[in-house]
Amino acid sequence: MTQSQEQNSKQTPVRIWNIPVRLFHWTLVACFITAWLTRDNRYLDIHVFAGYLMTGLILFRLLWGFIGGPYACFHDFSFDWHEVLDYIKGVLNKKPPRFLGHNPAGSWAIYLLLTLGVLIVITGLLGLGGEERQGPLAGLLNYPQGKRLQDLHELLAWLMLCVVGTHLIGVLVESLLHKENLVRAMLTGYKPAKADTIAAASQWKTATVMVIMIIAGGVVWFQGYLTATPEQPYQPFVGPDLPDHDLWREECGACHLAFHPSLLPARSWKTMMAEQDTHFAEDLFLEPDTVAEIEAFLVENSAEQGLTEAAWKINQSIPKDQTLLRITEAPYWLKKHQEISDATWQDPKVNGKVNCAACHLDAAKGTFEDAAMHLPN
Ligand code: HEC
Ligand code: HEC
Repeated sequence: MTQSQEQNSKQTPVRIWNIPVRLFHWTLVACFITAWLTRDNRYLDIHVFAGYLMTGLILFRLLWGFIGGPYACFHDFSFDWHEVLDYIKGVLNKKPPRFLGHNPAGSWAIYLLLTLGVLIVITGLLGLGGEERQGPLAGLLNYPQGKRLQDLHELLAWLMLCVVGTHLIGVLVESLLHKENLVRAMLTGYKPAKADTIAAASQWKTATVMVIMIIAGGVVWFQGYLTATPEQPYQPFVGPDLPDHDLWREECGACHLAFHPSLLPARSWKTMMAEQDTHFAEDLFLEPDTVAEIEAFLVENSAEQGLTEAAWKINQSIPKDQTLLRITEAPYWLKKHQEISDATWQDPKVNGKVNCAACHLDAAKGTFEDAAMHLPN
């Protein structure tokens, strides 16, 4: 523990925070604010970038806690609760000891912030993978599981906001009690101290590498916007494909789009396959083996499985005692398309409600992403 008692005489500015620590601190602040402001799904790509940047920063800080030199290293951090209590008592008596590095309460704020940061990143990735089928954990969870992780993600973010608030109050109180501007110290790195105090090295080379990596990461992540054209507007994410099946695609894609199994509940598919000889006034002439194989694929990936948000919501919207044979009759589908006029449905470029691919570029894949929605004209 680096500690220097208040000494009024012969204080000179000494570098306490090296550049990587300060860069970490303020970039993390920027990430947190950005992620907060972009929590709406419309800005998901910016939100996710802030999350990845935060991941990189936290990993860096954990490493830097071992190799970052004096004041940055974890062995300079207090872990003992008693020291925290003593420190808080000192604050209440308006005589807290002065620490050049982190005081015990500040150390605990950092442990909490790093832990919460890690948990937020993990729940964020699980939620993104489950709800949106995107990111490195895409498809690991289904939509409803992803949604639950997403709720946890939000709760943790609120907790982190509380810790940030406490940290800010701590900074303010200590700045007032010691009559020193701690915010400025985190910007410049310098604090007044005795001349023989150990100073932190600037570590500008590491900081330069950090800046280059942050900029390069941003360019790679947002390059779609740089290369976008009106014909090919940037689609931010591409997730892994939904389950596919050759025989199904061949037999059920002959007359219309092969509607993905996730678009109707299992009971609908079973009824439809049982009545395949009177399929919307058509006889599909399928052999029993073929019926069984296709039905197995349809049931295995039906709407109840919640493979996508649309699947889950379609299933939720259909009353349990109803067996619909049309996706276009599901309440969720009707709600999502209620604003489309009859004239649009009859437009030759659309050619009816069943022709999903006229407006959804990813209809054949079954994902129905917002970004792939594209009304003709
Ligand atoms: C011989 C042609 C043909 C084949 C093959 C065929 N269908 Fe159809 N399907 C139709 C017709 C016709 C309609 C009614 C289209 C309309 O209303 O415009 C229809 C409608 C549907 C609908 C309802 C679409 C909606 O939401 O309104 C579903 C679901 C469907 N078919 C599933 C299947 C499945 C599953 C298979 C494979 C087992 C299959 N179809 C194979 C002709 C076919
Ligand atoms: C005339 C163009 C058009 C056709 C054809 C069409 N859709 Fe859509 N669809 C839209 C529009 C526009 C929206 C966006 C509604 C919104 O954002 O609220 C939408 C939204 C959706 C959504 C919700 C996506 C989400 O936000 O989760 C699903 C699922 C969907 N459509 C499925 C289908 C299916 C299945 C078919 C074929 C049976 C189909 N659509 C046919 C225009 C169309």
